[in-house]
Amino acid sequence: MIKKLLCALALMITCTGAHAAGGGYTLDKAPDRVNDLASLQNGAKLFVNYCLNCHSASSMRYNKLTDIGLTDQQIKESLLFTGEKVGDLMVGSLSAKDGKAWFGVPPPDLSVIARAKAQSASVTGADYIYTYLRTFYRDTSKPTGWNNLAFPNAGMPHVLWERQGPRSMTEVAMHQHEAAGEKGGHGHASWERVTTTYDAAGYATSKTEEIKDYNGNPSTVYQFKAADAARSAAYDNDMADLTAFMTWMSEPIQQTRKKIGVWVMLFLGLFLIVAWRLNASYWKHVK
Ligand code: HEC
Repeated sequence: MIKKLLCALALMITCTGAHAAGGGYTLDKAPDRVNDLASLQNGAKLFVNYCLNCHSASSMRYNKLTDIGLTDQQIKESLLFTGEKVGDLMVGSLSAKDGKAWFGVPPPDLSVIARAKAQSASVTGADYIYTYLRTFYRDTSKPTGWNNLAFPNAGMPHVLWERQGPRSMTEVAMHQHEAAGEKGGHGHASWERVTTTYDAAGYATSKTEEIKDYNGNPSTVYQFKAADAARSAAYDNDMADLTAFMTWMSEPIQQTRKKIGVWVMLFLGLFLIVAWRLNASYWKHVK
């Protein structure tokens, strides 16, 4: 029984370990903007404009956005397009059935995705989303024409590509291989460097070089090159805002909770003093 439990535990650890690798790509740290109202508002605008076409956020109502400083009027004017009311849920127009038919996988509900994608105590769901939204690259061999480093073979196309502008992606992988003609020999392994570039149109070219005298570890590094660096930087900034919004959405109570926390600590502090003085006065006559 105990052995079984231990096995299950070991399995869980290896599973999360494998997942944390996220296709071998180290996730970037998302800037913390969850208390920045201007960021949250920009994030909300991007979310409603670009994500609700396919996804829903069905535990969110539009009028909840008054919590991040938007007025009902602003919500009506800039976020509602097709006759929704401010009290409506953020439900996208795509049915799960169409989603499955069009993309192979239905787009998941995004209400709590920022919590669901947490990888470990130090790598948050926000880090995942921030990285995911910034690591799309063109790849003509995929059904959508896009691939992603944080989520290889994702069924989602890069819907924001026009905001980001064209980019190429280069992968440089160092790995060992058995030298030809030495099958079963002393295993003299040599290293090779494989450089694969996906150009801005998604066509891949690859070159392999033999590397002698390499005594490092196997590694893979990825590099993006944007045609327009300023546009790409503005996109990163927008994605930080969008990520902040999705993080807020996954737990809209979090600011309130922090405020309540402060009051609770103050109360406990005061109560400690009162209890201490009462204790002293009760025992005064006993001794
Ligand atoms: C054209 C439709 C479409 C649009 C628009 C779209 N998505 Fe997706 N999205 C998908 C599909 C399909 C999946 C499922 C992909 C899969 O599991 O392979 C997905 C999955 C996701 C996931 C989950 C990834 C994972 O690791 O499971 C996130 C996060 C996400 N989308 C965020 C967004 C955000 C943010 C936007 C707005 C900028 C957006 N999506 C716009 C179709 C779309």
